[in-house]
Amino acid sequence: MKTILVTGGSGFIGSHTCLALLDFGYNLVVLDSYINSSVIALKRVIGLSKTQKQSAQNTLHEVRGDIRDYKLLSKVFVEAIKNNAPIEAVIHFAGLKSVEESVREPLLYWNVNVEGSRNLFRVMDENNCRTIVFSSSATIYASSTDNLLTEASELKPCNPYGKTKLAVEELLRDLFENSENNWRIANLRYFNPVGAHSSGEIGESPLEKPNNLFPYICQVAIGSRKQLQIYGSDWPTPDGTGIRDYIHVMDLAEAHSAALEYLFSKQSKLLNLNIGTGKGTSVLELVKTFEKVNGCKVPYVFSARRLGDVSKTVANNQLSIRTLAWEPSRSLSDICRDGWRWQMLNPFGYSERTH
Ligand SMILES: NC(=O)c1ccc[n+]([C@@H]2O[C@H](COP(=O)([O-])OP(=O)(O)OC[C@H]3O[C@@H](n4cnc5c(N)ncnc54)[C@H](O)[C@@H]3O)[C@@H](O)[C@H]2O)c1
Repeated sequence: MKTILVTGGSGFIGSHTCLALLDFGYNLVVLDSYINSSVIALKRVIGLSKTQKQSAQNTLHEVRGDIRDYKLLSKVFVEAIKNNAPIEAVIHFAGLKSVEESVREPLLYWNVNVEGSRNLFRVMDENNCRTIVFSSSATIYASSTDNLLTEASELKPCNPYGKTKLAVEELLRDLFENSENNWRIANLRYFNPVGAHSSGEIGESPLEKPNNLFPYICQVAIGSRKQLQIYGSDWPTPDGTGIRDYIHVMDLAEAHSAALEYLFSKQSKLLNLNIGTGKGTSVLELVKTFEKVNGCKVPYVFSARRLGDVSKTVANNQLSIRTLAWEPSRSLSDICRDGWRWQMLNPFGYSERTH
């Protein structure tokens, strides 16, 4: 049974992926600073895994810490070797993800996302672990045209967050091309991960005002926010609102175990893969689907376009489907139903606020 280090594993995508990895049969070491997550998430992951598998064979060991801490990271790798469970691969989620904040705090974003990743890769190299799945993002592409984005589309991020993601991809390419040793690397370029596990036990729990549309819709539907603000009603799209590629977070989670399996079957590899559904959904379509599936109302108002937004971002996902023998299987209705179940069962996310 292989041991995998998951950085940022208690966050939104990380917690769902930990569940998928445990169910796949991996042992996990999860390193997280909890700067944007709760300790409750992984407790629920362990509970769910036991329920789903009727056994507690796979282990999840948590370490509180920062990816920029060289000593701590080295200790994690050395202890795993001492325990006869060397870390054989890393799934690297840890980082900061707000586009808005990255514009205000570029130094912080380059420090955490790029310096932190460099530190991690250094420790991996020193401990002969050179297999990694990295959380990249569709934000590294140049503003989209009407076409679906392929992995060969132009790369030109327009904000510091996207630039840090591209910088990490470039660093990984340098390692792959120039190192004497074989690296196995998968850069997964996520489109818009949304929804929650179907149990409603784990989901997205923004600590502050949500940056993304879907948690915002959920919070308006449950009444903790008055109305949804839709930025722009005059985009060149059929209903005038922006189009995105929404992928169920469990489909995304399963792409990680598929990527790991693929890398383990190779001697050396560098993969860049779009992880999306290939289907575009407008903001209004998402709101209408959410209302219909869940029988609730999501009041909204239109406001001006936001600087830096684009009309359409949709993946061509054919390469990941061909390469990974993986395919998104959950629909937009599933996304809306599961996301709403999570919100209903956890009106304040993982926090225990009662007002
Ligand atoms: N959610 C999205 O829409 C989206 C889209 C594309 C890419 N991504 C990327 O996927 C990854 C996971 O995203 P998410 O939505 O789960 O975010 P998240 O904030 O929920 O999870 C990130 C986790 O990393 C931890 N973390 C942050 N800085 C750390 C540090 N210095 N050391 C250790 N842990 C640290 C946080 O506490 C959190 O648990 C991120 O790298 C993000 O940039 C997310």
